[in-house]
Amino acid sequence: MPVKENCCNSRKTFWGIFGLAQVCGLLAISLLVMWNVAYNMGYQWGHRNQQFSIHPLVMIIGMVYMYGDGALVYRVLECLSRFQVKIIHMVIFALILILSIFGVYTVFNYHAFMNYGNMYTMHSWCGMINVVAFGLQFFIGFGILLWPGAKGKIRNIYMPIHRYSSFGIMAITVGSIASGVVEDLLLCIDNREYRELPLHAVLFNVIGVLCIVYILLVMYLVYRDDWKRGTKLTPAEEAQEKGDASAEQSAPGPSETDKLLPKE
Ligand code: HEM
Repeated sequence: MPVKENCCNSRKTFWGIFGLAQVCGLLAISLLVMWNVAYNMGYQWGHRNQQFSIHPLVMIIGMVYMYGDGALVYRVLECLSRFQVKIIHMVIFALILILSIFGVYTVFNYHAFMNYGNMYTMHSWCGMINVVAFGLQFFIGFGILLWPGAKGKIRNIYMPIHRYSSFGIMAITVGSIASGVVEDLLLCIDNREYRELPLHAVLFNVIGVLCIVYILLVMYLVYRDDWKRGTKLTPAEEAQEKGDASAEQSAPGPSETDKLLPKE
C-alpha cells in the first residue's frame, strides 16, 4: 500500500480550524460528564435519571463527535493510503451506528420502565430520522463504495449523494441536539426556575452551542474543495498516478475502479 510521506503539510488554516473543532467537541463531552456528575448523580443502568443521562452522552459522542471526525479522516490522515482510510472511515461509522442504536434503546428502555409514551415529541421524531438516515447512509455507502464487486460508474454517481447526505445528516443532528437540550432542561427544572437562568441551565445550553459550533466547523472543513485529499500530490504519488493511468488505459480491471472516484 502506498504511504504518503508528506503528512503534515502547510495547511495551517485547516489544522487551526480542525484544532478548534476538536476543542469544542471534547469540551462539550467533558462538560456534559461533569454536569451529570454534579447535578444528576452520574450514570447508572437501571437507575431512572442516571440511566437516561447515558442517552445524551452516547448520542453526542457518536452522532456529533465521532461523526465529525469520521467525515474528516480523508482530509486528516493524508499519510495513509485511500484503502486504509476507507477502512478507518467504515470502522468509525460502524461504531457510531452501534452507539446510536444503544443510545436510542436507552431512552426507550427508560420510558418503558417509567411507563411513559414514546415518539411523541419533535425531538424524538428528529432524532429517529437522524439515526435512520445515518443507518441508510452507512449501509448504502458500504454497499457501493466499499464492496469490491460494486461498479466504478455507480460509485461515481453515488459519491456526490454520499457527500450531500453527510451534510444533511449533520444538519438534522443540529436539530436533534437543540431540541434535546431544550427538552431535557424543561424536564429536569421547572419553567420559572429556567427563566432565571441558573448555572446548570447555562452550562447545558453551552454544551448544546459547543456541539453546534463543532458541527459547523466540520461542515466547513468538508466543504472546502482545496482541502480535499490528494489536492497536492507528492512526487512519488504523481509518478504512481501516471503509472496507474497508463496501466488503466492498457488493461482496465475491477481493482482500478477506485481511481475513477473523484479525489476526496
Ligand atoms: C443526535 C443526537 C440525538 C438523537 C439522534 C436522539 C434521538 C432520540 C430519540 C429517537 C428519542 C425518542 C425515544 C423515545 O421516544 O422513546 C429521544 C428521546 C429523548 N432525547 Fe434524544 N437524541 C439525541 C440527542 C439528545 C440530546 C443531546 C439530549 C439532551 C441533551 C436528548 C434528550 C432527549 C430526551 C429528553 C428524550 C426523551 C423525550 C423524548 O422522547 O423526546 N437527546 N432522543
